Amino acid sequence: MYPQLIIEALKKVKYPGTEKNLVEMDMVEDNIRIEGNKVSFSLLFEKPNDPFIRSIVKAAETAIITYVSSDVDIKGNISVATRQTVCREPDKLLPGVKNIIAVASGKGGVGKSTIATNLAVSLAGMGYKTGLLDADIFGPSQPKMFRIEDARPYLERIGDRDLIRPPEKYGVKLLSIGFFVNKNDAVLWRGAMACNALKQLIREGNWGDLDFLLIDLPPGTSDIHLTMLQTLSITGAVIVTTPQEVALADARKGISMFLNEKMNVPVLGLIENMAWFTPVELPESQYFLFGKEGGKRLSEELDIPLLGQIPIVQSICESGDNGVPVALDPDTITGAAFRALAENVVERVEWHRKHIFC
Ligand SMILES: Nc1ncnc2c1ncn2[C@@H]1O[C@H](COP(=O)(O)OP(=O)(O)OP(=O)(O)O)[C@@H](O)[C@H]1O
Ligand SMILES: [Mg+2]
Repeated sequence: MYPQLIIEALKKVKYPGTEKNLVEMDMVEDNIRIEGNKVSFSLLFEKPNDPFIRSIVKAAETAIITYVSSDVDIKGNISVATRQTVCREPDKLLPGVKNIIAVASGKGGVGKSTIATNLAVSLAGMGYKTGLLDADIFGPSQPKMFRIEDARPYLERIGDRDLIRPPEKYGVKLLSIGFFVNKNDAVLWRGAMACNALKQLIREGNWGDLDFLLIDLPPGTSDIHLTMLQTLSITGAVIVTTPQEVALADARKGISMFLNEKMNVPVLGLIENMAWFTPVELPESQYFLFGKEGGKRLSEELDIPLLGQIPIVQSICESGDNGVPVALDPDTITGAAFRALAENVVERVEWHRKHIFC
């Protein structure tokens, strides 16, 4: 087998939306290695956020198997490089935090906070040091979802600074504006005040060493989002949507905010929440109350991985109100669904660290 055969096969793969193939686009790096049946090389993309990375890698694998030989061992051997790299060094404000993950949506009420809580609890259950920042200044829900509404974080002296010690529950360190102000007071704040309060929770929180800090964002694309994106070096965002058309349209807006060149935050994947409803007495049935597989379709259309589908389950809703997240028990069906979701998030973060980040 010669490298030229590989190059000829890659000439059959066109970059979507252009008439040019990968070779003409200068995307095939000069590092084709052939050892027995095993072929490996890198494809060079312009931007780390190129939405076609996964589909092009897949198309390149298929072309090599089709046009060179079905015996070629290529799956998983194409690495991705980018001309523009995204540097995800530890955040200057939070040097001990390895990964900062934003949990976002376009539309309100699709389940961001529920997902953020259960994702955080699952990650902690998997042994990761985990924190959760409730960035919903005007409607903080995390203190209730963790049943620590009465917690009043105290200040502790670290070196020459007084830092806020996040209360810890279910293995998750949590900070929320809900701990500091009366719910009805924050609603009257102006945008700038809310943004400052949030910055303070980030800057003055004693987060310590964390593998994951999740950020539960408010809905939409507000000043709060811009503050978060500009203040922190966010590793990636996960976008929550329901399968409903209106939610999907808003999810698109949310995604484009992160992918916007100025923001340049990778979207790790989509989460389809409220994907179907299964009544307790009819465990085999699925009712698609908000439409079927809308999140899955959007993920295919935008070529963004679908990290998980979470059904509508009474216990998920009740556990939010009771402050005992279902993810605490990974042996239940719902707990297992959140555990699988957390595993996918970890896998995507590792993929980005390996292929995209410098
Ligand atoms: N999979 C689910 N099954 C049952 N109920 C759910 C599920 N996901 C979320 N809920 C319920 O839906 C409601 C909205 O969820 P949640 O508060 O998590 O959404 P949100 O996107 O954070 O809302 P907001 O935009 O207001 O911040 C809550 O009552 C929650 O308990
Ligand atoms: Mg919320």
